[in-house]
Amino acid sequence: MALVHRILYPEPIESLEGYLKARGGRGLDALADLGPSDVIAILDDAGLRGRGGAGFPTGRKWRTILDARAPHASSSVVVNGAEGEPGTFKDRTIFRNDPYQVIEGAVIAAHVVGADEIVFGLKAAFGPELARLRAAIGEVTEAGWLDGLTVRVVEGPDEYLYGEETALLEVADGRYPFPRIAPPFRRGLHEEAADGGTPGDERETGLSADIEMVGAGEATPALVENVETLANVAHILARGASWYRTEGTDESPGTIVCTVTGAVERAGVGEVIMGTPLREVLEAIGGPPDSGRYKAVLVGVSNTVITEDQLDAPVSYEGLAAIGSGLGSAGFIVYDDAADMAGLAAGVAWFLATESCGQCRPCKVDGLRIAELLEGVAASQGEVRDLDEVRVRLGTVADGARCFLATQQQIAVGSLLDRFPDELTAHAEKRVAGVAPTLVAELRDISEAVAVWDERHRDKQPDWSYDAVWSGKAPVERFAQHYVGQELPEEPTD
Ligand SMILES: Cc1cc2nc3c(=O)[nH]c(=O)nc-3n(C[C@H](O)[C@H](O)[C@H](O)COP(=O)(O)O)c2cc1C
Ligand code: SF4
Repeated sequence: MALVHRILYPEPIESLEGYLKARGGRGLDALADLGPSDVIAILDDAGLRGRGGAGFPTGRKWRTILDARAPHASSSVVVNGAEGEPGTFKDRTIFRNDPYQVIEGAVIAAHVVGADEIVFGLKAAFGPELARLRAAIGEVTEAGWLDGLTVRVVEGPDEYLYGEETALLEVADGRYPFPRIAPPFRRGLHEEAADGGTPGDERETGLSADIEMVGAGEATPALVENVETLANVAHILARGASWYRTEGTDESPGTIVCTVTGAVERAGVGEVIMGTPLREVLEAIGGPPDSGRYKAVLVGVSNTVITEDQLDAPVSYEGLAAIGSGLGSAGFIVYDDAADMAGLAAGVAWFLATESCGQCRPCKVDGLRIAELLEGVAASQGEVRDLDEVRVRLGTVADGARCFLATQQQIAVGSLLDRFPDELTAHAEKRVAGVAPTLVAELRDISEAVAVWDERHRDKQPDWSYDAVWSGKAPVERFAQHYVGQELPEEPTD
C-alpha cells in the first residue's frame, strides 16, 4: 500500500512561493466568487469531518456558528494545534511540512463565519512548529492574505487538557486549561471575568467556573478547528467536493494523516486513503511489529483498544466504529506480544487521572483510585477484588463530567479490562511477575523514525507539578486560590 500526498507532500514546502507553485492559494482564489453558504454547501458535499478526534461534520459546525452570529460582535477562528493525544504527531508534521495550507484554511474559515481574528493555539514546547508558523504568517501577511484580520499565536502549556477546545479558549483568554461547561459555539473568546476578576488581576482565580460568560446572541461564538481539518478545507475549496470524494468512503471521504508508534520497526507519520485496512496502514508507516506479532493497538487514549483479530478493520470513522473503537486523531500505538496489558491499563489510567483538572470530583477522585488500584494489580501486589473495585469506579468516574476526559477512562481502561481479562486476573492472583505502569504520555518528537515520548510524565503529579511529593490537591485547587483548602464542588457550577 502506498502513502498518498494531499496534505503531506513527500518534501516540505519551504516558502509561500513554493506553496503557490504547488497549486496552493487556490482555495482563497475560489473564495472570491463564493458566499458563506456556498462554501458551507461545498464542505457538506465533500463530507469533511473534524480531524481533532470527535469527527464532527465541518460544514454543520460552520453553519451553526454562522447562524449564531451576534451582529456587530467580533469573533475568532481558533486553530487547535495543541496536539496532546498520546501517540499523535500529525499536526506538528503538517506544520513542519506545509503551514501555508493551514493558514489558508483558517483565512477561508474566518471569511465564511465573519471572524476578524485568527488564533493559532500551539504549545510553547513546539519550537520548530512555532518558528515555521511565524515565518509563514510573515510571508502571507506580505502577500495580503491577512488583510482585515488580526492574528495571534498562543504558546500554551504542556497539559493534555489544553487541546480540549473550551480549555484552549480559556488559555487564549489568559486563564488555566480548565474546560468550560458551555459548548464553545455558545461562547466566544475575550469573555469578561465576573467574580473571578479579569485575567492578571489579583482577584483572578483562574477557574473557568468563575467566569461569567456572555449569553447567546451577545457574542459570536468562536470556531475551533483542528490543524488537519483546516488544511483539508483549503484543498476542498481549490479543487471541489467531487475531487475530494474521489478517495475514501461515502461516510469518510478523502484521506487521513496517521501516526504510528510503539513496537514497530519505525515510528512515523503518513497520509492514507480513508478505508484502508488498519493492518496495511500500520505496516506502510511503521513496518512490521517488533516481535512479528501484534497484540493490541491503542488509538490514543480516547477509544477502545483494538486487538490483533480486528486489524483488518478499515481506517475510517464507520470502519473503526463498527469494531467498537474509533478513529480519534488517528494516532496508533502498537503493542506486540511482549507487552503487558496490566501495565498498560495502569499506564493509561495514570495518564488520564494525572491530566484530570479536578473540576468534576469523580473524574479526579475515581480516576486516581482506578490508577492506584491498577498499579497494584500490575505490580502483582493487588487482589482480585481490586479489579472489581476498578470496574465499579469506572461506572462512576464520568458522573457529572464537563468534558470527555473522564469518559475516556471508562472507554480506554474499561476496554483493556474487557479484552484482556485473563492477563489482568493473572496479575491480581499473583501468578505472574509484577510490572510497573507502562509510560503513556505525549510525543515530544518523531525524529529519524524514533518516537520521543515525554518521559517527564513519569514524575508528573496529579496537581500538575513535578514536585517530589504530591500536594494532595487537584490542579483546580492548586491554581484557583478561591478553592484552596476547600472542598471541590460536588456538582459543576457555572
Ligand atoms: C481531553 C481532550 C483533549 C483534546 N486534545 C485535542 C488536541 O490536542 N487537538 C485537537 O485538535 N483536538 C483535541 N481535542 C478535541 C477538541 O476538543 C475539538 O473537538 C477539536 O478541536 C474540534 O476541531 P475539529 O472539529 O476540526 O476536529 C481534545 C478533546 C479532549 C476531550
Ligand atoms: S471531566 Fe475531568 S478533566 Fe474534564 S473538566 Fe471535569 S475534572 Fe476536568
